[in-house]
Amino acid sequence: MNGNGHIPVLLEEVLEYLDIKREGIYIDCTIGLGGHAYEIVKRNPKASLIGFDLDEKSLLRAKEKLQPFADRVELYHSDFRYLPDIEIDFSKIKGVLLDLGMSSFQLDSPERGFSYSREGPLDMRMDLRNKITAHKIINKYSEHRLSQIFHEYGELRQARRLAREIVSRRKVKKFETTTQLRQTVEEICRWRPQKGKIHPAAKVFQAIRIEVNQELESLSGFLERMAHAIPKKAHITAISFHSLEDRIIKHTFARLAIPEDSHPFLKILTKKPVVPSKEEVEANSRARSAKLRAAEKI
Ligand SMILES: C[S@@+](CC[C@H](N)C(=O)[O-])C[C@H]1O[C@@H](n2cnc3c(N)ncnc32)[C@H](O)[C@@H]1O
Repeated sequence: MNGNGHIPVLLEEVLEYLDIKREGIYIDCTIGLGGHAYEIVKRNPKASLIGFDLDEKSLLRAKEKLQPFADRVELYHSDFRYLPDIEIDFSKIKGVLLDLGMSSFQLDSPERGFSYSREGPLDMRMDLRNKITAHKIINKYSEHRLSQIFHEYGELRQARRLAREIVSRRKVKKFETTTQLRQTVEEICRWRPQKGKIHPAAKVFQAIRIEVNQELESLSGFLERMAHAIPKKAHITAISFHSLEDRIIKHTFARLAIPEDSHPFLKILTKKPVVPSKEEVEANSRARSAKLRAAEKI
């Protein structure tokens, strides 16, 4: 546990793969509550840190936590995809961390609408400046597009049936709450709790969240731009929580590790993804689906 009840996932593994002992700049693309970031600046007095988050509330919490190291920390309320456009001395970068998805802080705030098991509005925006909400998607998107989202981003078997039913029900009564949506999903997917089975609402909520926050948009392009921008020996470490993201990271690293004009860009440091130990999952069930991949610029 690391201050404010938040447990950073795969903490020691992240610090090892980032190789945080070196003097220079470390970038935390998804600072959240500052769990990983705090350990980087605490353990290495010669590290400075640049952090990004779409979520202003999380960023304020991270700022508070990192206050003792404020002279070495710079935070941006921004999508990390704008990082390559910011004026930074890229030659000093030693490590880049992405810890993707949402934080426990977001999931545990019912008013944000991320959790299917808590009553809240259909929102799911990480950045409250974003115009697209879950409410808009569920009440306005076409049946075809809804079905595509449930299928592609949620890998839901009943994607078409659910989309059809949502469009039919919303003509009578708009969808307003997470509970209303969860109940419809449970009915259409004929949900019966079974050990080891994922709740279909988890898949549907994941799909909508990905669409609201455009989570897969240009992730591959970003990794590629960063791989070009960082200096030799800098490390990129990425944690994902679902197979769609993991696939993008794996394939992008693999592509950049293949000789390009007889010279590869990256060396892959994790032949297989690193996953949390049994003890970590027992202590923090949210770590259960985490996969870490790391690469070094060569
Ligand atoms: C899993 S949490 C990170 C937790 C963090 N490593 C810690 O230990 O506190 C992911 C965070 O990334 C943010 N996020 C997701 N996509 C983002 C993006 N494209 N740009 C910036 N922040 C993003 C979310 O708002 C969330 O706060």
